[in-house]
Amino acid sequence: MNDADLQLFPEAASTIAPRIDALFWFITGITVVLSLAIAVMVVFLAIRYRRKNDVDRTPYLPNKKLEMAWLIGPLPILLVIFFWSAQLFFEIRRAPHDSMQVAVVGRQWMWKFQQPTGRREIDVLHVPVNRPVQLTMISQDVIHSFYVPAFRIKQDVLPGTYTTAWFEADKVGTYHLFCAEYCGTSHSRMVGKIVVMSQADYENWLAGGKAQEMPAVAGGRLFEQYRCGSCHMATETQPARAPSLAGLFGKPVRLADGRTATADQEYLRESILRPNDKIVAGYQPLMPTFQGQIDEEGVLQLIAYIKSLDPASSTGAHPAAGATGTAAGAGSPPPAVGPSGTTPSTFGGSKP
Ligand code: CUA
Repeated sequence: MNDADLQLFPEAASTIAPRIDALFWFITGITVVLSLAIAVMVVFLAIRYRRKNDVDRTPYLPNKKLEMAWLIGPLPILLVIFFWSAQLFFEIRRAPHDSMQVAVVGRQWMWKFQQPTGRREIDVLHVPVNRPVQLTMISQDVIHSFYVPAFRIKQDVLPGTYTTAWFEADKVGTYHLFCAEYCGTSHSRMVGKIVVMSQADYENWLAGGKAQEMPAVAGGRLFEQYRCGSCHMATETQPARAPSLAGLFGKPVRLADGRTATADQEYLRESILRPNDKIVAGYQPLMPTFQGQIDEEGVLQLIAYIKSLDPASSTGAHPAAGATGTAAGAGSPPPAVGPSGTTPSTFGGSKP
């Protein structure tokens, strides 16, 4: 597909690619026209006013009209570029709501992916064609940058905070993935592939791997393992010592210092790793930090679990825990589990 080693311009294989290219060629076209005009004038004037030529050399007095023309003339062109690119920018930033959710963890020097079903991959990401895919990305160490030229997306992947990107591939094929931020000795080898498959092939591929835990289920297991429920769930004898997590995702949260936060992925991650940064109004700063105990993949799974919690079960029933759980949570109150095999809404709610 793109094994042609020398390619002046990358293949276009996403819905956004031709539109970015249109803007790119528009700007390039204007640049070429203006550069040519200037070059022609330079050559013309150099010949006309060369020393031997007998021409009028009295200094040219400023002409207001001419000056206004070259100040105001380019304005509409610049405004077109501004609105055009702003519109594209918003589109690149806003993933469609029904996007398939993929978790990406970058580290020196590999890309780790997790499909919504829980299937993991390293340096290769399989996706279905004609389906928007949203990536939630974080780095375990230094800054990396997720770059797929054929999709015209490039997004920094940072330690300590989530960034997102999305694309909708519209051509079946295999495309290059690069790290586009110098990240150490083997930066140039931090490459991978995005394999775009038909929906049927993708489903076959997913079914072919050995069964893996969905992120929300794995998160539920961590929730048990770290005994999160001992504070976040009320018991019959005792009210919860920490805020309920059911239905929390995406909601505003009032903080003890009067501010309001939104319970998005970033907020949840921070609350797990640095719980004292934002204390919820009405609660004590009791929670220990889990920094260094739970890795980034674990945090992503915990967030998937919290997302999957049903707001109706605000008593703290946790649907995912125990479904494939181990005995790690022994000793804590038995989780209220639905029928075996009940799966919570997946990491972001996609149905592969
Ligand atoms: Cu990772 Cu360069």
